[in-house]
Amino acid sequence: MTVKSEITVTVNGQPYRSQVEPRLLLVHYLREVLDLTGTHIGCNTSQCGACTVLLDGEAVKACTLFAVQADGCEVTTIEGLAPEGGLHPIQEGFWEKHGLQCGFCTPGMIMASYQLLKDRPNPSEEEIRHELKGNLCRCTGYENIVRAVQYAAERMQASASQPVGAGE
Ligand code: FES
Ligand code: FES
Repeated sequence: MTVKSEITVTVNGQPYRSQVEPRLLLVHYLREVLDLTGTHIGCNTSQCGACTVLLDGEAVKACTLFAVQADGCEVTTIEGLAPEGGLHPIQEGFWEKHGLQCGFCTPGMIMASYQLLKDRPNPSEEEIRHELKGNLCRCTGYENIVRAVQYAAERMQASASQPVGAGE
């Protein structure tokens, strides 16, 4: 018999109550139980960052946590970063500066960029490269990703956009 645990998680502002196996990873919970497939799985071993989401406003790799560890928490995925139909300034940056090719790394890269800009609203190029080193991209060579984050930083400072979870 499979033992299950009940968890209550708020994901992108919507509360969910689910029965999950204790071994279920958060990334599998998001993708397979909640059908939020914007969060990608690249390695499942904490190497690539494709699975990055926000847990109570902080970026985490969702393949390194069990779903039960998110019990009582707020999770934000790429689907919840901007209101329906809109783009967050970071998403705009990736669009405007061509910060993606195949797009596989992009959701995780954007969520990690969110954390970066929350911690450092005006990062240097070196800081951007350093802070995103836990997110791997096989396509772009990273140049345009750096430009995308710089674009987002300028936009967010100009408009004083508040990132998700600000003030928590
Ligand atoms: S899938 Fe989580 S770090 Fe690669
Ligand atoms: S755009 Fe293809 S892996 Fe980054």
